[in-house]
Amino acid sequence: MHKTSGTKIAILKRLLSTPTEMVPSGELVEKLEISRQAIWKGIESLRDETIGIESVPNRGYRLVRPPTYDLSPSWLECRLEGCSLGHPILLFESVDSTQEIAKEAARQGASGGLVVIAEEQRTGRGRMGRCWLSPTGGNLYASILLRPRIPPMRIQLINLAAGLAVHRALENMYGIHCSLKWPNDLLWKGKKLCGILSETASETDRVHYAITGIGLNVNMSADDLVSAGVDNPSSVRVIRGTISDRGEILGHVLREFSGHLQLLEEESPGQSRVVSLYRQRCSTLGKEVRVLTDSGTDYGIAENVTSDGALVVNVGGSLRVYTAADVLHVRASEE
Ligand code: BTN
Repeated sequence: MHKTSGTKIAILKRLLSTPTEMVPSGELVEKLEISRQAIWKGIESLRDETIGIESVPNRGYRLVRPPTYDLSPSWLECRLEGCSLGHPILLFESVDSTQEIAKEAARQGASGGLVVIAEEQRTGRGRMGRCWLSPTGGNLYASILLRPRIPPMRIQLINLAAGLAVHRALENMYGIHCSLKWPNDLLWKGKKLCGILSETASETDRVHYAITGIGLNVNMSADDLVSAGVDNPSSVRVIRGTISDRGEILGHVLREFSGHLQLLEEESPGQSRVVSLYRQRCSTLGKEVRVLTDSGTDYGIAENVTSDGALVVNVGGSLRVYTAADVLHVRASEE
């Protein structure tokens, strides 16, 4: 497991500020007020994350190359200055579910903003009790711990904001215009690109924490995903035809998501802004949909998303409001 720390981030930031120069270890000792040994440990740990740092006896340290591993957590956190999310970042090779690790951290009192990433999940979780197959091979599996100041009845907005964040990140970075299906599935030509799951612990009037899990197919080919058992998948690689930097994608997603969360905490004007941004991008609106709920299946036309994030569907002339449901676009393959 790799974990970011204040020491590692401070060292890296200092090295990055003068990339061609040697930084004397004495300067780091003085600036960070820790021992030479602690500096050395931090440097070693950054090297373990594949960040290239040269050390010359009696002269100090110098950054010689960026990490060769795209999910280097310290490199990622370093680029998240001013962002409320991504502090700290925990990276695992293989876990049952990043949701579980984040939940345990929340129970232990961890602050909002912690992010857990894994290369593989053995028992990844999806919405509606489904599993999320999470093979190793270049996808993004991340859970973000939030301590949002939002009333429990509006918690669905976090779900929408997360989908919006991934949608905007892919659009801004690569010009990908994928379909954002209510509440937060990302599809490409009817095939699943990204799934998002938010789990919360709350009382009647207060949310203790929320954990938003994002599963984004990035660098696996459709064939490899299908061979691993994933049903009807797409990936960023399928769309772009090339490999992408997952750390960069996650960085963009966290920045977007953090901005939306800030708006949601502002209440009325901020919340309406997020809902309106969401409505502009939600491909479900105006579509013929099949809605699966605990009590049965409805067919109709999706007409609106309420200020609380619920979906309004015209079912045979009467408007029905769904807060949680499985929605299918009837003509998904034509998108
Ligand atoms: C869906 O069913 O569409 C939601 C899938 C959410 C998957 C992500 S991957 C990271 C996090 N850890 C999990 O176990 N699930 C979420």
